[in-house]
Amino acid sequence: MSAPLRPPIRLRCESLSEPVGVDHLAPRLSWLIESPVRDERPQAYQVLVASSIGPLRDGVGELWDSGRLEASGPPSLAYGGRPLVSGTRYFWRVRWWDREGRPSPWSEPASFVTGFMKAEDWKAGWIGPRSVTEFRSRGTVLLGHPGPEDLQAFAVYLRGEFRLNGPVALALIFISGLGHYELRLNGVKVGTSVLDPGWTDYKKKALYASYDVTRLVRDRNAVGVILGNGRHIKSYGYDGPKLACRIEVVYEGGGREVFAADESWKTSGGPIRENGLYFGERTDARVNIDGWDRPGFDDRAWVSAAPATGYPLASQMMPPVRVGEALAPVSVRRLGSEAWIFDYGQNFSGWTRLRVEGPAGTEIHLRHAELLNDDGTLNLGPNENAEATDVYILRGGGPETFEPRFTYHGFRYVEMTGFPGEPGPGTLEGLFVHSDVARTGELRASNGLVERIHRAVVWGQLSNLMSIPTDCPQRDERHGWLGDAHLSAEEAVFNFDMAAFYAKFLDDIRLAQRDDGSLPDVAPAYLPRLYPADPAWSSAYPTLVELLWDHYGDRRVVEDHYASLERYIAFLGRNADQGLIRSLGKYGDWCPPGGIVPKKTPVDLTSTWYYYHDVLILGRLASVLGRGDDARRYSELAGSIKDAFNAAYLGQDQYAAIRVSPVDAYPNQTSNVLPLYLDMVPAEKKDKVVESLLRSVVRQQDYHLDTGILGTRFLLDVLTGIGQAQTAWRVATQKSYPGWGYMLAEGATTLWERWEKLTGPAMNSQNHIMLGSIDGWFYRVLAGLAPLRPGWEIVGVRPHVLGDLTFVEAAVETVRGRVAVSWRKSDEAFTLEVSIPVCATGEVHLPRLWPEAEISESGKTLRSPRQTAESAAGIAFLRDEKDRVVFSVGSGTYRFEAKKTS
Ligand code: BGC
Repeated sequence: MSAPLRPPIRLRCESLSEPVGVDHLAPRLSWLIESPVRDERPQAYQVLVASSIGPLRDGVGELWDSGRLEASGPPSLAYGGRPLVSGTRYFWRVRWWDREGRPSPWSEPASFVTGFMKAEDWKAGWIGPRSVTEFRSRGTVLLGHPGPEDLQAFAVYLRGEFRLNGPVALALIFISGLGHYELRLNGVKVGTSVLDPGWTDYKKKALYASYDVTRLVRDRNAVGVILGNGRHIKSYGYDGPKLACRIEVVYEGGGREVFAADESWKTSGGPIRENGLYFGERTDARVNIDGWDRPGFDDRAWVSAAPATGYPLASQMMPPVRVGEALAPVSVRRLGSEAWIFDYGQNFSGWTRLRVEGPAGTEIHLRHAELLNDDGTLNLGPNENAEATDVYILRGGGPETFEPRFTYHGFRYVEMTGFPGEPGPGTLEGLFVHSDVARTGELRASNGLVERIHRAVVWGQLSNLMSIPTDCPQRDERHGWLGDAHLSAEEAVFNFDMAAFYAKFLDDIRLAQRDDGSLPDVAPAYLPRLYPADPAWSSAYPTLVELLWDHYGDRRVVEDHYASLERYIAFLGRNADQGLIRSLGKYGDWCPPGGIVPKKTPVDLTSTWYYYHDVLILGRLASVLGRGDDARRYSELAGSIKDAFNAAYLGQDQYAAIRVSPVDAYPNQTSNVLPLYLDMVPAEKKDKVVESLLRSVVRQQDYHLDTGILGTRFLLDVLTGIGQAQTAWRVATQKSYPGWGYMLAEGATTLWERWEKLTGPAMNSQNHIMLGSIDGWFYRVLAGLAPLRPGWEIVGVRPHVLGDLTFVEAAVETVRGRVAVSWRKSDEAFTLEVSIPVCATGEVHLPRLWPEAEISESGKTLRSPRQTAESAAGIAFLRDEKDRVVFSVGSGTYRFEAKKTS
């Protein structure tokens, strides 16, 4: 008798757990299946959706019963039942059938709550303070870039009350407060998000968040909202702070009531006297508005809110920014008589939580920096124009706590001045703030440098997820640079669940597209001068769509963006000159060793290469959508770009490089890496180009890279692909300049923007993520994990035993479940443990480390000198390769061992 089937687990709607605010007409429901049986493969699924749990328990889905649907793709189905109604909770459950046709038990129920299914359903208007000038402060510069209009620095406090008329079944608050809001109900903060809503181009789309407040409402209620500036400011073309807020109550009897923020709400200034994303926040706790967020507060001195012009709204369907890990300082040092320097031992994004007790009016300043000067003072250079200073003025009379709300900093060190007395261990905690994407990947290796680079990438990546992928968290920039985003995206999807985050960012990119099909360098396009983008930056659009297809099997994202991608490619086509893009490049192979601007790689070459790269992707996406004609058209176009590229840039034995002098004959790494990566090199010249690349990497640079951010993304892969994985390893683990190991040896805890150690007031962020692409190579090459078919339908396990490595372990939570690999090598044996989730198969490449070896799996011999391939449960021999034996495995856990016999 086989064991009973397990019910599906980890139910998600639109890849989020129990989301509130789902506004997709056919939201995707997904789940995972686990089974102790090898080679399990679900045949079918059934989903039930109901408006209450009762019927579901009886196996009835009155809103949708999918019936038994054949399984295909990752375990998920798009809702296909009766139209979903705004502001309603839906319950659902799912079951599956195994390969023998047995049904599993039903899963535990999960639920989701809808937002606004039609734009007209949102009836709340927008309100704001009557006059922005009422809240003038010191005429401060909000973002760091001087803008005479940016006078509004106070946070605005708004309040309104409502009464309920009976017991409540469901109470929801939908809110968009711009630039950022904090929502409070009856004296407590609602939800755990900070710096909400996510950044968008508000005129095109503002995001609202949705909260289930059923447990917080009472007969009489007060809603309080604090509005900060964020990016909703005049220098970006927006007017003052504004709020749309709607409270929907469903009574137990079924009746509905709506309370919306309107002109009956009152506004006031409050303790937050100044706030700006870059300069920081100033809070004067003596400003007493206690009780303002509770019912019955006397708000007669407050001013009525005024109507404000609104924006189109859509639900924020992605993990919000939250306060994550708290960091205790690793050291606290006195500096002179006034100041204390806190060192958190780690560069990160966020702020600090101050605990203090002292006389009223005591003013504490907290300045943030990534570096210290030699004399122990803060080095504010890399912050450029970001003041990055929070100020707290004590109310007095007891213990006080302060955390800023509407700013964040990129820092490792804090200078505190004005503190009354001596700080204690808990005085100033560091709070790591970032988009709260779930961690999906883990990687461990016997080589400490690999682990430290991986760790720096993880901290750097999270520091640069702030509702958009940013370039850096410390200076007055922090924009959604498209180049930085796509160069680090593969590493990000290994490490984190990026499905909803990137879906939102792709929407930002699409909204930023101009009528001529062009895209900007940054999205949201807060800096309108950045059109049209360098093609190496705007490649983020096709690159991210393809990545979501490969890692999440997300066909909808392909459908949603295909038309806009076509317009983008057409734009490039119109700007091509006989297949070459000569006019759009700006940055090219940015930040190579020794400078910011590429010195050796022609910008036209990278622009044209990305044109080819993107056309290839589009052709592939056309095939995904079954558009055969398009696929052929793009494949022909790609062919002609490739020919033009080779004609223009391929010389005798290498691709074009900018020569700085007649003796500068060495090949340029990036120029050769890019065409090798996409297999563009004519067969008869491939060996020569490979040789040229190696001449540069090995002979000229002594196993160092000489690439900017574009070449770096592909260099290690190309070396691996041409059979030079050991060379790639040496480059990846170099401890001398330029390399990742050099940065770490020089004290980096996140990756730098530049290969050089630079500390002045210039472009030298200590926390940029664009060189983090190496972490993708760790997962794919050292651990050997890759989705060989979209959505991890076939899990590739092709580890490389490199350098001094004796073990590597990695695991990724995929859309089909957990994929894991762990290998160990000794002088006598190599073991490879692999876990393949149900719904997937694995292609396991066992490295051939010795001329002869006995191969077994879980103790059962598969091959020995006397005996050839024998299959065991769930395993089939696929083929022998030069240096590997390849098996196909079904779902389950396998332990392969190769024992040296000669
Ligand atoms: C950013 C980069 C970005 C670049 C474009 C810089 O200021 O920090 O990371 O991609 O500009 O040139």
